Amino acid sequence: MRFSLLAVAAVAEVALATPKRPEPDKDGRYTISAPGIKAQFIPYGATLTNLFVKDKNGNDIDVVLGYDDVSYYPKDPSHPVYNAIPGRYANRIGKGQYKIDGVTYNTEKNDGENTLHSGTNNWSFRFWNVTAFSSDSITFSILDKSNSSLGMLGDVKSSVTYSVSKSTWKIKMTAKSLDQKTPILLTQHTYFNLDAYRNPATPKIWDHTLYLPFSKRYLEADQGALPTGKILTAAPGSINDFASSPSLLLGHARNQTGFEGNCGANGACEGYNGYWLIEGAPRGAPVVTLGSAFSGVKAELRTDQPGVVLYSCNWMDGSADLKSTQGIEGVNEKVVRSSCIAIEAQDWPDGINHPEWNRTKKQIYGPGRTYNWESSWTFGLL
Ligand SMILES: *[C@@H]1O[C@H](CO)[C@@H](O)[C@H](O)[C@H]1NC(C)=O
Ligand SMILES: *[C@@H]1O[C@H](CO)[C@@H](O)[C@H](O)[C@H]1NC(C)=O
Ligand SMILES: *[C@@H]1O[C@H](CO)[C@@H](O)[C@H](O)[C@H]1NC(C)=O
Ligand SMILES: *[C@@H]1O[C@H](CO)[C@@H](O)[C@H](O)[C@H]1NC(C)=O
Ligand SMILES: *[C@@H]1O[C@H](CO)[C@@H](O)[C@H](O)[C@H]1NC(C)=O
Repeated sequence: MRFSLLAVAAVAEVALATPKRPEPDKDGRYTISAPGIKAQFIPYGATLTNLFVKDKNGNDIDVVLGYDDVSYYPKDPSHPVYNAIPGRYANRIGKGQYKIDGVTYNTEKNDGENTLHSGTNNWSFRFWNVTAFSSDSITFSILDKSNSSLGMLGDVKSSVTYSVSKSTWKIKMTAKSLDQKTPILLTQHTYFNLDAYRNPATPKIWDHTLYLPFSKRYLEADQGALPTGKILTAAPGSINDFASSPSLLLGHARNQTGFEGNCGANGACEGYNGYWLIEGAPRGAPVVTLGSAFSGVKAELRTDQPGVVLYSCNWMDGSADLKSTQGIEGVNEKVVRSSCIAIEAQDWPDGINHPEWNRTKKQIYGPGRTYNWESSWTFGLL
């Protein structure tokens, strides 16, 4: 008896001493957790697949979009970049072109006349390496070879570390261009529905509240969601106002003329797909608060980035199934139009083509200049 206990202890010690090769759960997910929060990830796109937080009844609910079957992510034809890391230059590059030191580079036009998320072979469609994993943290890394996305030259090494602590999900990214200057702009493309699609009254996102206290100004965009260069100020109560009151609903303007078509596509895009500046925020202050009275959950974003993209899921067409952790059988089963919101902290989209914004040089990275990005989401009750 005594002998075998010792043997068990010895085995346990060996297990502790040998670093474990990161292995996912049986369903392919890597799980990290802390009090009040559990997050799950896959290497494909360095994607967050599930995020469980407490609702007002004390239940754990899954507040981000995704699929049950992890092998479906690479196959999904509609591929909305669910909670992945697009790169090396997220969002749009106008007319598929940019210049560095007088040289013009042509990128792939995969979104009308523009480049979206760096074109095909973008980072959200690659299998990243798991380079660290513990009970509350995971790191994914990628080596992006020169020109593997058309017109993106120079090798870039990048990693993202996701960690959790008391009801908070923290995201830290770094990137280095190893041999030449290249544009770098990253984001975590997180899609939320804070009701986990369990509100029987509506699957839509319009009843969520959204507050951006430091974002009176936003970028004007054309019909293809490309910034025109102009910076506009949202008057209180107008369609693009989320700064004037913490109780504004995401759908506060849904009956105003112009809401249909507010995100372009010649009137076909209802709601939001644009960029809001964050200006004058005190260090450490929440810059975005998303809330839902139905679940009682609120999510607060803190970030070192100068703005956020808001996209209210106009192009979700009801073809994608919800995860089994979400929805109501026979009532809400699909990801229907305008039923989620992507909130993406990032630098000014297409800033490489807008010297008048003074972001152009800041978005170019070469040897000796490291790209850094840091944000966190803290969950609580309204
Ligand atoms: C990203 O790359 C994949 C794989 O090449 C491609 O199917 C997809 O269309 C690209 N994404 C975008 C937004 O262009
Ligand atoms: C993962 O690591 C292997 C071995 O170092 C490397 O060959 C591969 O390119 C890496 N994958 C990515 C996506 O960086
Ligand atoms: C980048 O790749 C394209 C083909 O996809 C090729 O035409 C072009 O010459 C390459 N550019 C460089 C600098 O290698
Ligand atoms: C918009 O109109 C709908 C249908 O008439 C109504 O149910 C809703 O309360 C209105 N929303 C707002 C924010 O005015
Ligand atoms: C860019 O810098 C110029 C000169 O300092 C300034 O006038 C302008 O307002 C800046 N643009 C933005 C968008 O901050």
